[in-house]
Amino acid sequence: MSNTVNLTINGFDVSVPKGTTVLEAAELLGIKIPVLCFHKDLCIAGNCRVCVVEQVGSKKLVAACATPVHEGMEILTNSLLVRNSRKHMIELLLSEHNADCTKCYRNGNCELQDLASEYKITNQDFIDLAVSRAYTIDAFSPSILKDDSRCIRCQRCVRTCDELQSVGALAVAHKGDHMKISTFFNKPISEVVCTNCGQCVIHCPTGALIERNYIEEVWTAIADPTKHVVVQTAPAVRIGLGEELGLSPGERVTGKMIAALRRLGFNSVLDTDFTADLTILEEGTELLHRLEKVLVEKDEKYKLPMTTSCSPGWVKFFEHIYPDMLDHMSTCKSPQQMFGALAKTYYAKKIGVDPENIVSVSIMPCTAKKFEANRPEMRDSGYKDVDYVLTTRELAIMIKQAGIEFADLPEEKYDSIMGKSSGAGVIFGTTGGVMEAALRTAYEIVTGREVPFENLNITPVRGLEGVKEAKIKIEGCKPEWKFLEGVELKCAVAHTLANARKVMDLVKSGKADYHFIEVMACPGGCLGGGGQPIPTTPEIRQKRMQAIYEEDMSLPIRKSHENPEVQQLYKEFLGEPYGHLSHKLLHTEYVERQRY
Ligand code: FES
Repeated sequence: MSNTVNLTINGFDVSVPKGTTVLEAAELLGIKIPVLCFHKDLCIAGNCRVCVVEQVGSKKLVAACATPVHEGMEILTNSLLVRNSRKHMIELLLSEHNADCTKCYRNGNCELQDLASEYKITNQDFIDLAVSRAYTIDAFSPSILKDDSRCIRCQRCVRTCDELQSVGALAVAHKGDHMKISTFFNKPISEVVCTNCGQCVIHCPTGALIERNYIEEVWTAIADPTKHVVVQTAPAVRIGLGEELGLSPGERVTGKMIAALRRLGFNSVLDTDFTADLTILEEGTELLHRLEKVLVEKDEKYKLPMTTSCSPGWVKFFEHIYPDMLDHMSTCKSPQQMFGALAKTYYAKKIGVDPENIVSVSIMPCTAKKFEANRPEMRDSGYKDVDYVLTTRELAIMIKQAGIEFADLPEEKYDSIMGKSSGAGVIFGTTGGVMEAALRTAYEIVTGREVPFENLNITPVRGLEGVKEAKIKIEGCKPEWKFLEGVELKCAVAHTLANARKVMDLVKSGKADYHFIEVMACPGGCLGGGGQPIPTTPEIRQKRMQAIYEEDMSLPIRKSHENPEVQQLYKEFLGEPYGHLSHKLLHTEYVERQRY
């Protein structure tokens, strides 16, 4: 039996594998069928009907996203009937959508607005229900703002929160005309299990879910001559920012981004990758310490596997879902927060500025970082360690507002000190990157030799599979690490919280014997974070990932422990990794949270 199906679309023949949808078959012919509730990351809902096409011989219009092809099918994607039906669907959606587009944060990047423009919806045949309805705007979260007046009930956010993230903070409430997207008990999203990952924002086609933006606060700080504004940029921003400014996905824009930040008026342009390297020193040392405590001393206070702690969406998920396992999580703060604590201590001293006058801004691919910066424990410098967190998208807005021609900017370099990084710091931006960076350093500390992988590229932890595993046998240990001789270090890497849950459930039930687990809350890791350019699709994530590895290969230093500025920091300020001052500034603790 053939696995190929033959059909015609708009009179053109096409052969596709069985199971292909009409939408996918049309894409192969270069025909774009509009979609709204459909997203490649999510299961098919088929509820918006914007993608309707005509099936010749059938009396019904069918949803292209939800209809598999069959032999001999004849499809029309642009008949009069199709165009009129689509136009009606768009008009109906607009009738219950607050179409005050000029005042919408997503103005200019809204899928409904694009469709209204393409179909030239210039007058309204349906009653405007948006004006007469009572809507809720939930602005309590430091990360995410939910505006029900702009919701078109496509449920992409619910499917994202449920399927992709296994969080379930958002749900469909009520039926029919009263149907709305709500949280459990209709509480503000800041009071439920929401991890602030922002994947709902990335997947929302309109402005119903957006980031809480802090652009004006940052402009005000820059304009204040008494303030010294320090900015740090996360690894994944440099491979995403270009997309918001007219460049193609996967273009590396590190040098231009630095130049743009200087022209915006930041006083010091520094790199989160520096503290990514520092995290490896701290986390790697912590892992070795735990291995000794558990394997040699059998000390029950210490737990394996140790999980990473640099993804704040993952941290909050862990606090809600596994509150009885918090001692498995590394005590390391994320690179953002390590940077914040050092900016107002070590860096302030270095440049001779009163920390009171330092404003610390971070540019992150992540909305959960906004919540993280607001955690009450993140004040170890004696001040709020990170004052404002902007997403990649917010930085792009500032660059546009300042009238900077991004493509014409020269390539510039980060300021020193806290501006230098290794390739290992860069790969923090992708799933598997923290694990790879940690193994490059930990293996060398223990054995005195480089990890046994070509070009330091630990390929088993790379790629976009949801869960990856790697084993490394440790042989030829230095005398002080003899207890690790012959140990096979077992590692797991998970991205998305649904995959993280699978791994942690295995650990909880005693069915997995990993030593070290890396988790990133977002698909692909930070490169697919909730603060990255919209759209973010599987193809775009792939290109961003490739760019991250290219950036790693382009750097002269590719192991965190070889970063000279990190070495200087320990020598002049911190002392030993995982030592007293490190514990005070760079480590933290977690809180048990309720699950509604
Ligand atoms: Fe196909 Fe919504 S995109 S039904």
